[in-house]
Amino acid sequence: MLGRQIWSRVARLCVAGLVTLVVAGCEIIGPDGPGGGLIVQAPPGYGPVPIPAHNQLSIQKVELGEQLFFDPALSRDGTISCASCHLPDRAFSDVTPVSSGVEGRKGRRNSPGLVNVAYAPLLFWDGGSFALENQVVAPLEDPNEMDAELEDVLRTLNADAAYRQRFEEVFGDSVTVRTFTQAIAAFQRTIVGSGAPFDEYIAGDRSALSAAARRGLELFEGRAGCRNCHAGVRFTDDSFRNNGLAFASADSGRARITLRAEDFARFRVPSLRNVGLTAPYMHDGRLASLESVVDHYAAGGSGSRGQDNLIQPIDLTQQERDDLVAFLHALTDVEVRSGVDALGGAGYE
Ligand code: HEC
Ligand code: HEC
Repeated sequence: MLGRQIWSRVARLCVAGLVTLVVAGCEIIGPDGPGGGLIVQAPPGYGPVPIPAHNQLSIQKVELGEQLFFDPALSRDGTISCASCHLPDRAFSDVTPVSSGVEGRKGRRNSPGLVNVAYAPLLFWDGGSFALENQVVAPLEDPNEMDAELEDVLRTLNADAAYRQRFEEVFGDSVTVRTFTQAIAAFQRTIVGSGAPFDEYIAGDRSALSAAARRGLELFEGRAGCRNCHAGVRFTDDSFRNNGLAFASADSGRARITLRAEDFARFRVPSLRNVGLTAPYMHDGRLASLESVVDHYAAGGSGSRGQDNLIQPIDLTQQERDDLVAFLHALTDVEVRSGVDALGGAGYE
């Protein structure tokens, strides 16, 4: 019932989005482009899913990207796929603080969820990548992740008759850096949420949130000050901040990219969508539960060097902490779609 309501709203939003695009002649999504008018069903309240003109969608391309995303042949020893660390039933995040790559090697950062990742202006906890097409090579070649050489992977895939044929069908080309990264990026843009109880509530259905979650929302937007950073429909203002975690893991954060001293130990404000599914939390997965996250903020952080001025002690009773947690759970999408299930658009059945 809830699902159907959300679905009809999504459908209306998509139609509205298409009309706007046709009228505006938007370059981001060409409804008549080579993708045959395919779009991704946008989550409620979000604008159209951004699709770059140079990597329009087609059903076959999305299916190919999905196959690659789940294929362990992309790793050096054939054991690790993208989905090993981005689990579909965990909003495409992982359940451990830091994931295991080939031979059980550990990195130092927590695997973020990928729902609605198409909307993120910068990727990674430090914003070190700006496009899904460019991002693909990072985990592939990271020694702690898939530990492969891009050339080897392309050679292996080209030697596989079935893959070779599918790439030819989709791109009219063999497996190249361009076609390989475009296919995986295209699939990742289809990973979208269908809307959460919070969206139903915003749309006017008061019963969508429990009394506890409603009190939690009030705190979140009011006295607890969470909205100062977790702003907008994605619950992030896309800034890089130090939220007061004790400096523990020799990770310079945003400064790794900008080389500016003031960015030391600043990390991207993460979206809080589906945070009920993506434990553990923070860039290194150090906090196991949402309860411990709320306790961290209530204490006003650890007073670490460079802590943001917006992080101050908050006087919260146990009931109020529980209310905040109840609200955070109301940000879990009723359903997460990916692949062809998330596609729509003119003439799409
Ligand atoms: C061994 C675990 C592991 C594997 C395998 C892996 N990832 Fe990741 N992924 C991570 C971690 C950890 C991060 C965060 C890295 C950082 O912030 O520096 C991440 C970040 C990302 C992001 C950025 C998300 C965001 O919101 O910033 C995307 C997109 C992504 N991975 C896609 C992929 C794709 C595609 C593959 C396969 C080619 C893949 N990952 C394989 C662990 C993994
Ligand atoms: C000053 C900006 C700021 C404020 C205010 C703020 N946060 Fe955060 N939040 C962050 C940053 C930055 C991170 C990531 C920090 C890191 O990993 O080093 C984060 C991480 C989180 C996470 C972990 C998400 C994940 O995917 O790991 C949750 C949950 C969270 N915040 C909830 C809250 C709540 C609840 C409040 C209000 C009590 C709040 N935040 C207030 C900046 C802020």
